[in-house]
Order: sequence, then structure tokens, then C-alpha cells
Amino acid sequence: MKICVLPGDGIGPEIIAEAVRVLRALDLDCDLTEALLGGCAVDVTGDPYPEETQRLAQDADAVLLGAVGGPQWDGLPRDQRPERGLLGIRKQLGLFANLRPAIVYPELADASTLKSEVVAGLDLLIVRELTGDIYFGQPRGIETREVDGHRERFGFNTMHYSESEIRRILRVAFEAARRRRGKLCSVDKMNVLETTQLWRDVANETAVDYPDVELSHMLVDNAAMQLVRNPRQFDVIVTGNMFGDILSDEAAQLTGSIGMLPSASLDADGKGLYEPCHGSAPDIAGLGVANPLATILSVAMMLRYTFAREGAALRIENAVEKVLAQGYRTADICQPGTRKVGTRAMGDAVLAAL
Ligand code: IPM
Ligand code: MG
Repeated sequence: MKICVLPGDGIGPEIIAEAVRVLRALDLDCDLTEALLGGCAVDVTGDPYPEETQRLAQDADAVLLGAVGGPQWDGLPRDQRPERGLLGIRKQLGLFANLRPAIVYPELADASTLKSEVVAGLDLLIVRELTGDIYFGQPRGIETREVDGHRERFGFNTMHYSESEIRRILRVAFEAARRRRGKLCSVDKMNVLETTQLWRDVANETAVDYPDVELSHMLVDNAAMQLVRNPRQFDVIVTGNMFGDILSDEAAQLTGSIGMLPSASLDADGKGLYEPCHGSAPDIAGLGVANPLATILSVAMMLRYTFAREGAALRIENAVEKVLAQGYRTADICQPGTRKVGTRAMGDAVLAAL
């Protein structure tokens, strides 16, 4: 198992350290190589996704990533921003299928800002298209143009999807729904945007191959509302890159904390990049208080999806459930009556539970 480890910026190195300890404790035959991505890479090489990292990532079976970005790089030109490194690796490795599961652990139902009766038992999966849409569409930019007879700055981006890009992500989502509760909700904005009219048409065409899955459609504004009104109506949600970015943060909050959410970004052959859904949290970087569980759970997804080691994945997931049941909580999920711990102690607790 060749794994490229990219700790990144902010809390990235702290949470990755715990995830790597958990991975090593499983005693699997893995070969880990560390490299730079994001702001730390800009500082050393001037490039958020340097060539050395590109080579190691392409050569690996899987990539484990912490997080990228921070205020010290906000002033850089767009092509040197840490986020560009993340978008670059997703695009270069062809990681078009982003799986973001949102699960409410029984112990954390009260940690959500929503009423526990609304979120208890929630188990949904967002399948987000990750290498297309307005994120990558050309033309894009900010230019000075003649607008209504005067010159002013003009910003533009392009939303587009090809039929084949839509079909391949829909297939991933239908397959996932088939292995779960058999319900797929495709989210678009077909009342306004042609690109997403095509999305809906292709979703309906693809559904013919999955008669056992119940397909529904929802407009993105309604989906945003339904996610907080009655999130348990959903099993699998599939949507484009930008809508998926927004809805997955919303879904994360249902679970109590974005610090709990792992993700997998897969190519067509099972190679994947695994990362927590949260960002680099510069405000708490270096303090040893960040929640490492999303990253540890990302390791479980890696073992499941890239290496087909279901047993090892379950061991990690069960260990996480156990530490939550034992009352261990990092600050983001801490409530009265629980045991508040830092990043390292949470890692220790998971190792002990393993
Ligand atoms: C995410 C993040 C990224 C995205 C940013 C950091 C570029 O928000 O993974 O959801 O927008 O995809
Ligand atoms: Mg996001």
C-alpha cells in the first residue's frame, strides 16, 4: 500500500500525526511518503502543488491529506493560493467522485445545533462531482470591460458539464445508493440553469440502468432547506461541484461538528485522496486542540475504498464509536459531563480502543 501523506497547513500536521499513528497501529504493510501541498509548499517552492509532490501523488495508490490554507497566503495571486494546490491535485489525479458521509453518532446527537430529534440516527451520503463545474470552467477572470457605455471591472466564471462527466458521477451515486437504502436524490437548479437541466436529463437516463434505486430530483435551494428541516429523508444526495461544496458543509453541521466528517475523492479505478471535510482552522493551529477524528475516519475510508480492507476500516470506525461512548471529546464536540481532551489524547484514546 503506497500512501502519499500531505499534512498541509494549519491544524493539518497535528491531525495527520494522529491518523498516521492509527494507521501504523493496524500493522498493515504500508509505505508512507510525506510531501508538501498548499501554503507550506508555497513557502518552500513558490508552488502550492510542487512537481515533487505531483510525482509522489501520481505514484501512490492513495493520498492522505490534512488541510490547506491560511490567512498568511490570502494576499497571493490566485494561481499561488494554497486552495489552487488542492484543486490541482484533484484535477490532475482525475478524482471526480467525492464521497462525504454525514453520520450522527448517538452520543453526539445533542452536540448538533439542531434539535436532537431532528438529527438522531442521521446517516446520509453526499456524492459531489469534484473535477468539473464552475470550479474549473473557462473562461474565467476579472477584466475591465465596457459595460452599459462605461468601463468598469467585470467578473466572470463559466458553469459547464459534459454529458459523460454527469453520467460517470451519477453512476457512482446510483451504485452507492444500491449498497445503502436504495434512495438517490439528485440536486440541481434546472429552473434557471441549462447546465443543470442537462444534469437532470442525464440523471433520468442513467436511472434506467438502476430500477432498484428510487431516483428523485430537488432544486438546490429547497435541498438546503430540507437538509435542516428533515435531513433523515435523504439517503444519497448527488450534485455538482459547487452545490456539493455548499450542501456538504451544511450537512456536516447536522452531525454536531465538521470536525467529525471524513471524505474520499476517487478516480475511475479506485485510487483516492482522503481528507477531512473541514479546513485548516488557522485560529486553533498549533494549540493541540483540533479534533483528529475526521482524519482518522478518512483513513478508514481509504482502507475501504482503495485497499478493500473492510475489516481494518471497521476496526477504526468501531474504535471511534467506542471513544465517543467513553465520553472523550475535543473542544468542538464537548458538552457538560464529557471528558475534554486535546488532539494527541484523542489519538491515544482511539489507539487504546483499537
Ligand atoms: C472543500 C473545500 C475546497 C472546495 C476549497 C478549500 C477549495 O471547501 O473541500 O469543500 O471548495 O472544494
Ligand atoms: Mg467546502
